[in-house]
Amino acid sequence: MVVARLIERKRDGGTLSPEEWAELLDGYVAGRVPDYQMAALLMAIMWRGLRPEELAALTDGMLASGDRLRLDGIAAPKVDKHSTGGVGDKTSLLLAPLVASCGVPVPMMSGRGLGHTGGTLDKLEAIPGFRTDLSLRDAEAQVARIGCVMIGQTPEIAPADKRLYALRDVTGTVESIPLICASIMSKKLAEDLDALVLDVKTGSGAFLPELDRATELAETMIATGEARGCRTVALLTAMDRPLGHACGNALEVEEAIAGLRGEGPADLMEVTLALADEMLLAARAVPDVGAARELLHAAIASGRALERLRQLVDAQGGNPAIVDDPGALPQAPESAVYEAPAAGVVSRVEPRRIGQAIIELGGGRRTTDDVIDPAVGFAITAKPGEVVERGQPLATVHARDAAGVAVGLRALAEAITIGESAAPLPLVVRRLARETASC
Ligand code: URA
Repeated sequence: MVVARLIERKRDGGTLSPEEWAELLDGYVAGRVPDYQMAALLMAIMWRGLRPEELAALTDGMLASGDRLRLDGIAAPKVDKHSTGGVGDKTSLLLAPLVASCGVPVPMMSGRGLGHTGGTLDKLEAIPGFRTDLSLRDAEAQVARIGCVMIGQTPEIAPADKRLYALRDVTGTVESIPLICASIMSKKLAEDLDALVLDVKTGSGAFLPELDRATELAETMIATGEARGCRTVALLTAMDRPLGHACGNALEVEEAIAGLRGEGPADLMEVTLALADEMLLAARAVPDVGAARELLHAAIASGRALERLRQLVDAQGGNPAIVDDPGALPQAPESAVYEAPAAGVVSRVEPRRIGQAIIELGGGRRTTDDVIDPAVGFAITAKPGEVVERGQPLATVHARDAAGVAVGLRALAEAITIGESAAPLPLVVRRLARETASC
C-alpha cells in the first residue's frame, strides 16, 4: 500500500476498497501511517465524501481497532442514547436511570464538552467522587447489577477513532457527515447495543445548524446502525435555545435530579420523555407510545427513577447525598440576576453565546488539559416567545468571582434578545427511523 496514491485517489473523487481502508487504519493505529498523511486523507474525505461501502469499511475498521462491551449475559435488549451536542442538554443524566428503572438496561458511553457544547462526563464529574473511567469489565458487571452505567470512551474502545478525532479537531475536518457518523457509530456499536436512539440537534447552537444537514447525518447514522443489527431511531430536536434552565455542570446535575423528581422545566421534560419513549419502544419493552409514557410517569412518580440515580452515583464512587441535598454539589460563591432591559417578547436566547460564556467562566475547556470549574454557569428561565416586563428577572449567572459575574451578565445581554415576536423551532422537529429515512 502506497498511502500517497490512496490520498490522491480520494482527492480526485475515487473510491478506496474495504481492504485498503482496513490496511490504512491498521497502519495508522500501529504508527506506520503518519498523522500528516492521515490529515491529508481526512481533508480529501471532507471535500469528496465517502461512498456507502467506504463508510461501512471505515466504521467497521474503527470498531475493530479496539475492544467492546460484552453484555450477552444480559437477556433484555440493551439501549443507549447519543446526542450530537448542545447547551443545557442534560437529558442523558435523566435517561440512563429513568429507562433502567423501567427494566431496560442502559450501557451509556458519553463524551466531554466539545467546542461550545457541554459534555455528559463533565457534568457527572461535578458530582463529588464520581468516576467515569471504569474498566469495560467493571462496566459490564455494573449493568448486570443495577441496569445502567455511565462511562467515557476507554482506551480500549475504538482507539482509531480516538486518534482520528484528535487529528480532526486540529485540522478543520470535524464537520464531515461520514467522518462524524463513523466516529459516533464505531463507539456506539462497541457498546453491544440492541438499539440506539439518536438525538440530532438542529438550530443555531447545533454543530450542524441546518435542518437538511442534520437530517442527512441522522439518516447516515440510521443506515449504519441498522446495517449492523442495531435498531436505530433519530429525533431531530431544537438547539436554537438552551434546553431547560440550567447551563453549567453542577447546575445541570441539580436540574436533572429535579427532573427525576417530576419537577424539571417543561422543555427539558418534553425532550427527555420523547427520547425515553423511543428507547423503550426500540428495546421492545412497550407496545406503543401510550404504554411508554405510562411506564415513565410511574417510574418518576414512584421515586424509582430517582432511586436508580442514587444507586448509579453510589456504584461509581459519587456522593449519593447529592440526590436529596443539591447543596452537596459544588456551589459558585458569586451570583447575580439579569433583568429584562425592556418590555417585549423574548425573541432569542442564543445557545452558542451561552456555551461560549460557560467556557469564559471556567466551566468548559479552552485546551484539552484545562481543569473545569464545575460550579459556574447560568440558570436561564427566559424562553423564546415569553412576554416580559422591563426589570423582570430572566436569568442568574453563577461565577467564581465578581469578574466572572460581569462576564456572565455581558454574555446574557448579548444572548437574550427582546423584540416583538419569536419563531422558535418545535422542540421535537422530526422523527426518523429506517421506515422513514431515505437511506
Ligand atoms: N462526537 C463524536 O464522537 N465524533 C464526532 O465526530 C462528532 C461528535
